[in-house]
Formats: sequence, structure tokens, C-alpha cells
Amino acid sequence: MPAFSVHSLSTVSGTIHHITASVAVSATDDESLKTRAGELARELKLPLVTAAEADFDLLLVVTPERLELRDNRDPRLGPVWVDFSHFDLRPYSPHLSRRQPLARALGKKAQSVVDATAGYCQDALLFALMGYRTTAMERSPLVMALARDGLRRLAARAGIALEKRLHLIEGDARLLLTSLKPAPEVIYLDPMFPPKRKKSAAVKKEMRLLRELVGDDLDARDLLEISRRVALDRVVVKRPDDASPLAPDPSMSIAGKLVRYDVYLTRR
Ligand SMILES: C[S@@+](CC[C@H](N)C(=O)[O-])C[C@H]1O[C@@H](n2cnc3c(N)ncnc32)[C@H](O)[C@@H]1O
Repeated sequence: MPAFSVHSLSTVSGTIHHITASVAVSATDDESLKTRAGELARELKLPLVTAAEADFDLLLVVTPERLELRDNRDPRLGPVWVDFSHFDLRPYSPHLSRRQPLARALGKKAQSVVDATAGYCQDALLFALMGYRTTAMERSPLVMALARDGLRRLAARAGIALEKRLHLIEGDARLLLTSLKPAPEVIYLDPMFPPKRKKSAAVKKEMRLLRELVGDDLDARDLLEISRRVALDRVVVKRPDDASPLAPDPSMSIAGKLVRYDVYLTRR
């Protein structure tokens, strides 16, 4: 395995996060795409390779349509990319309803939300489309690049000026949150779910690859503690419905489909 296969992100409290797969950037055969791939490789500090060089677990490939992640270890698995085409963007659609558990957890008065664990921005996009001023923080530059690409394609397809509603910040939320001005009303956390003891074939490949890229978010309790100090109204934590709360004293919990939103009120 090449020497850069384990990439450590800088941390606040000393916890180290590992990318457990070796990753390189590549492009399909087109000069302008190769230029874009070169820029991306420099931004992400990853090697640039031709698609034929298969000595990497994962390839981040610039194609004419999108940015996609390919698993070189098992070519039968299709590529992964960030896709929002299943979102129902029509007004009053259930996706955008403020009566859904996710929106109820944010509270009736919330006008803005900081999603401090943005990932592929599925939740952050929902917040923005529901009308909350949304800031999304993500510490993996690679995951952020995939999310940006999905958002760019959605904005082009649906003709939405997303940049006015959704502000993306790359970096560790444990640092970023404490310097946000004004302080956020609501902070939303969706750290990686604890890995299942039994490996299940049903774990979606998107989630499997995400775990290889970002690890297990073992510092999530630390992030919750910082968020509780910073949020003016509440912190909402998404958990699997069968997992214990991240901190033992949620003020209330709201049940969603297979997940639970634990709400920690912080009003002082
Ligand atoms: C389960 S994913 C979030 C999925 C997201 N809610 C979505 O809708 O796509 C967790 C993400 O949080 C990010 N993360 C965890 N701790 C973080 C921190 N302290 N600062 C910034 N990002 C963090 C991880 O890198 C990972 O991409």
C-alpha cells in the first residue's frame, strides 16, 4: 500500500482520525477534465493518477457529468456520487415539511441552523430548502468536494441559487463553532453511527466508503460538549433508534424513521 494511504487530519484534542483506504484523483479522457483533476488533487493533497494505474483502493474520478468515487478493490461495485435527485422539491412536499421529526427537533422558533457534521450535506440541504439559514461544516475535504459537486449539479438542474441559503465551511467544527459570530441558535450533529457488531451486507456502499474516508467520529462526545456550550437554544443529535444517547441527559427525544433526534436544550 502506498505511503500516503493513512492520512491523519489535524485535531483539537489529540484524537487522530484515519482514512483507512488509499485514495488518488483521476479523470476520464478529456484534457479539460484532467486539468480539473490536477487542481482537485492539489487542493485535496492527494496523488494524481491515470485511471489505468490501479494501485489505490479508491479513485476520485472527474467525469463529464460528475465527481465520483470508484472502488478499485471490487470493480463490481458501481461508483458512488452525491445525488439529490430523489429530493422532492415541490412546495409542501413531505421532504420539505416542517412537521417532520427532523424539523420538529429544531424547534418552532429556529430560523438558522449550523450542521456541524455535514457529510454529504443531505440533511444540510433539507434544512436550507425548508427555509432555515444553514451553515454546514465538514472536516473531510474529500467528502466536502463530493458534496459540493452534488449541490452544484442540483442547483444547475433545479435552477436554485443554493449559495444564498447554504453556507459551507471546511474544517473541524470543534474549532469553528467557538469562533462563529453571532453564536448559533441551533447546532445539529449527525456523527457516524456506531459500527454494527455483525457486518451486514446491507450496509450501503455509500456509508461503507464514508466510514473508510472519515473513520468512526470517536470524538463526537467532545463535539457535543462544545456544541452545548456554544448553542443559544439547543443541540440536536441524530442517533440510531437502538443506540444510547451521546450524553446521558437529553431534554427530550423525537422519534423518526429508524433514527431518533435527541434534543439538548441550552437556553440560559
Ligand atoms: C454520518 S456523516 C453526516 C451525514 C450528513 N448528516 C448527511 O446528511 O449527509 C458524519 C460526518 O461528520 C463529519 N464530522 C464529524 N466530526 C466532525 C467535526 N468535529 N467537524 C467537522 N466535521 C465532522 C465526518 O467527517 C462525516 O463526514
